[in-house]
Amino acid sequence: MGNNRFVAIWGSGGSGKTLLTVKFAKELAAQKKNVLIIHCDDETPVLPLVLPVSENIKSLGNLLAMSNSTQVAVLQHCTVFGSSGYISLLGYKLGENAISYREYSSKDVKNLFNMCRQIPTVDYILVDCSHHTIDNVLTIVALETADAVIKVSNSNIKSTVYIESQKKLLREERFHYCNQINVLNNVLPSQDTYPFREALGGAPYVLSHCSSLEEQYHERKLLDSLYGKAGKKFESVIKQLVKEVFFDE
Ligand SMILES: Nc1ncnc2c1ncn2[C@@H]1O[C@H](COP(=O)(O)OP(=O)(O)OP(=O)(O)O)[C@@H](O)[C@H]1O
Ligand SMILES: [Mg+2]
Repeated sequence: MGNNRFVAIWGSGGSGKTLLTVKFAKELAAQKKNVLIIHCDDETPVLPLVLPVSENIKSLGNLLAMSNSTQVAVLQHCTVFGSSGYISLLGYKLGENAISYREYSSKDVKNLFNMCRQIPTVDYILVDCSHHTIDNVLTIVALETADAVIKVSNSNIKSTVYIESQKKLLREERFHYCNQINVLNNVLPSQDTYPFREALGGAPYVLSHCSSLEEQYHERKLLDSLYGKAGKKFESVIKQLVKEVFFDE
């Protein structure tokens, strides 16, 4: 693992992809790295879920609809997230959906991702994928082209069944499915994780359920630090993952 600049965060519905993407960005920002997050979800726009304010927000849909976008256009469509200035977001806005803009192709997405990679002020690109894998062009291209894919699953039967089905969908060599990095998230203290780790083919990172995370999520305060034993434990696993997956340590 190590030194991956363009990372896709993918996995089962409601497993914590969006929340973990923001927590990875927060840890990278703490290390003074500039992070660009691309939220793929065009069914439930993510910008209104994570941003505490709604003014001056531009849409990723608008950027993808441009026939010739540039690095400047990418930056103009970003929204700065948090007070550090290290994190920027690209995503869909409140009220938008998959048909709000003209259709875009996988070539358009490849161009956008390449352009993002070439922005000199961007150190890391995190793609918060949709679990509607093949219906979402941003997600499918991210899974194909990312330096690393973090697969998020919950320790329940629904997540396990989803992953088993998606494995077949992503069996082509271009997806490097076997190299995905497995994360088991939202595990309750009393839970036996063994069957779920087995179903994933191993999970080097296990993140516990933390009730203050739910509060943060609902209050749109995911960039705040966590407190208490569960919070500190959660943050230490995030730190370890960032060190091993994003930095070459
Ligand atoms: N470790 C955790 N402890 C407590 N709650 C969690 C944890 N991880 C995720 N959650 C909660 O799970 C819910 C879903 O999280 P999130 O929206 O990040 O999932 P997602 O995978 O992005 O969902 P979707 O598939 O809809 O995009 C949120 O309410 C979030 O607070
Ligand atoms: Mg999400």
